[in-house]
Amino acid sequence: MLNGKQIVLGVTGGIAVYKAVELVRLLTKAGADVHVIMTRSATEFVGPLTFQTLTANPVHTEIFNLIAEREIGHIALADRADLFIIAPATANVIGKIAGGIADDMLTTTVMATRASVLIAPAMNVNMCTNPIYRENEEKLRRHGYRFVAPVKGMLACGWEGEGKLQDPAIIMEEAVCALTRQDLVGERVLVTAGPTLEEIDPVRFISNHSSGKMGYSIARAARRRGAEVVLVAGPTCLDDPWGIETVHVCSAAEMRDAVMERVAASTVIVKAAAVADYCPKSRAAGKIKKSADAMVLELEKNPDILAEVGRVKGDRVLVGFAAETSDLVENARKKLTGKNLDLVVANDIGQPGAGFNVDTNIAKLLHRDGRVEELPLMGKDEMATIILDRAAGLRKQGMRGEE
Ligand code: CTP
Repeated sequence: MLNGKQIVLGVTGGIAVYKAVELVRLLTKAGADVHVIMTRSATEFVGPLTFQTLTANPVHTEIFNLIAEREIGHIALADRADLFIIAPATANVIGKIAGGIADDMLTTTVMATRASVLIAPAMNVNMCTNPIYRENEEKLRRHGYRFVAPVKGMLACGWEGEGKLQDPAIIMEEAVCALTRQDLVGERVLVTAGPTLEEIDPVRFISNHSSGKMGYSIARAARRRGAEVVLVAGPTCLDDPWGIETVHVCSAAEMRDAVMERVAASTVIVKAAAVADYCPKSRAAGKIKKSADAMVLELEKNPDILAEVGRVKGDRVLVGFAAETSDLVENARKKLTGKNLDLVVANDIGQPGAGFNVDTNIAKLLHRDGRVEELPLMGKDEMATIILDRAAGLRKQGMRGEE
């Protein structure tokens, strides 16, 4: 996502400057070419050499510095940027930008850029709630500047409240959003992910090897493209993705209720969860004690959530998954027609690099018109992008049909 992108990072004075160092590390690790501009007060907190070493680019601090190619420094940087980030951004710099003041390298470059600008403020809580600051922020938002809101916590000045610079990983995520084509704005995407867990007694359960990674990648990718996303997740070890309403469920029955409640409000539904087909007929209230040499566990069928959604889907785009160990296409096609799906992502989970608990996947995409697309081994993030491309295409087709 950030590989090869030119990012100009403005750093202004505040104790949070040390977190900008971490942000630079994350950006460069993701393949971005980062150019840092520091205000004079930022250099009081961290020396330019730190940023220069991490970015392998000269750090800009002075406005009237002609660079080697004899371009005007601030215009060259402003033109080069794919994205402009200011982190940490003080109330002062935000006020200056909002007021049209361009009196140093940073403010002149921001004024001259045509790139998206992402501002991550950090300041004292009372500055943050000051109506003048609020007006400045509001004005910049109206002009299309993006903000990553500061968080609440203990502030270096001794006050407690809103004003701490957001986590660099989250600023990164917002940077990725700012650089992603917003082709899913207006779509409401419901994604399921992970396994379900069916309790036998207070200590045992039936589940499967699903890590949830595929569904989480789809949810994240949809948000980056501008969709409103709800993720219904079975138990996984993954952190809740930033900016996504995540509903945690345990059993298939709970997942069914969480999904069915949200179908009406969705336009695209992607069911990546590995739902247990059966659950114990009854859950023992106490731990089942060891007794006979063999035991029989009576199971009953769980609701087929995808099939139920298929019956009421209307013009929503419905994407299902098929995890198979044999006759991949034939079995997946049965699911496509039997569950009234628009697209099936068929995984041969016997293949190395596909299926459960890995970061990669290999799949065939089965379309309603009989087409089968073969996707080679790729990262789950990359596959998520392709699945959403197809879903977006189907939504467009559907909308054209309505006209
Ligand atoms: N699915 C579901 N509810 C179930 C079982 C499956 O919603 N009770 C969904 C999964 O989320 C997935 C698709 O159905 O999108 C296919 O799941 P899979 O386990 O491959 O197939 P099943 O329909 O359960 O059939 P089988 O286990 O016989 O292959």
